[in-house]
Amino acid sequence: MMMYSKQHLERVRKLAYKHIGITLGPNKDAMISNRLDKLRDTLNNNNVEELLNSIEQGEYIDTFVATLTTNKTNFFRESYHFDDLRDRIASHVQNNNESLSIYCAAASTGEEPYSIIMTLEHAKELHDNPMFKYSLLASDIDTSVLATCKKGIYEWEKSAMDFPSWVTPEKYFKRRENTSRPGDYLIKVKDSLRKKVEFGKMNLMSAKYPFREAQFDVVFCRNVLIYFNQEDQLSILKKLFSTLKIGGTLYLGHAESPLELVPYIERLGHNIFVKTKHYL
Ligand SMILES: C[S@@+](CC[C@H](N)C(=O)[O-])C[C@H]1O[C@@H](n2cnc3c(N)ncnc32)[C@H](O)[C@@H]1O
Repeated sequence: MMMYSKQHLERVRKLAYKHIGITLGPNKDAMISNRLDKLRDTLNNNNVEELLNSIEQGEYIDTFVATLTTNKTNFFRESYHFDDLRDRIASHVQNNNESLSIYCAAASTGEEPYSIIMTLEHAKELHDNPMFKYSLLASDIDTSVLATCKKGIYEWEKSAMDFPSWVTPEKYFKRRENTSRPGDYLIKVKDSLRKKVEFGKMNLMSAKYPFREAQFDVVFCRNVLIYFNQEDQLSILKKLFSTLKIGGTLYLGHAESPLELVPYIERLGHNIFVKTKHYL
């Protein structure tokens, strides 16, 4: 790893806040240096001064965003949220012949939205209700992870470890040998399921979101708020909350907090929150 000057690290901090909204604290110097190394590699430019000048002038923004964001995710991460979606929400909706509108706010490489789809398809089977309707929008700020979402191709070994016992992979994926690593397999989400998710680019720091008030029954916003400062977390939470119906559910990551939304929600545990009234 190359050693960067304080000024260079500071310029990266400013750019990350401007283009992504993430706040990289003083303990993140090593991480910033690592990402700068990667950026130099990707853009094949060893001149840091020149590289940062270009980004400050608006070049390579997508690459900068893709390099600076942390995209760690996996299928059925914090699996209790998917159990809740199936056992509480989907079963209520199906018993009442309603439909479900879901937003997944930081989809990363797609494991989260496809876990939602598998869960809902499973609920459909459990209730023997092929007519059950739902819609799923999934977004991220990083165009490179969105491309992976749309392809829906994952490594079999790594993914299978995270599948709960009810997942029968053949129902949801096609499997083929990984030609670049003979003996390993890749799985691809079946087209019929991929079509059920609409993927789009969205910056959670945008002043206005392209959604209606009370549009969604469920919002997944997990393991992304942690990257923002508290003031920005609250501003994002308020905007997301306004898109949620009364009685709708907000899922947050285990280390995240609903902050000032507390008087407007009922807590069900495991960072599952039900909206009881609109934020005033
Ligand atoms: C650690 S991943 C979490 C993925 C998934 N929600 C999960 O819990 O496994 C965080 C994601 O948030 C995205 N992200 C970061 N800043 C964002 C922003 N300002 N707007 C939208 N997405 C953002 C990153 O690109 C990354 O894919």
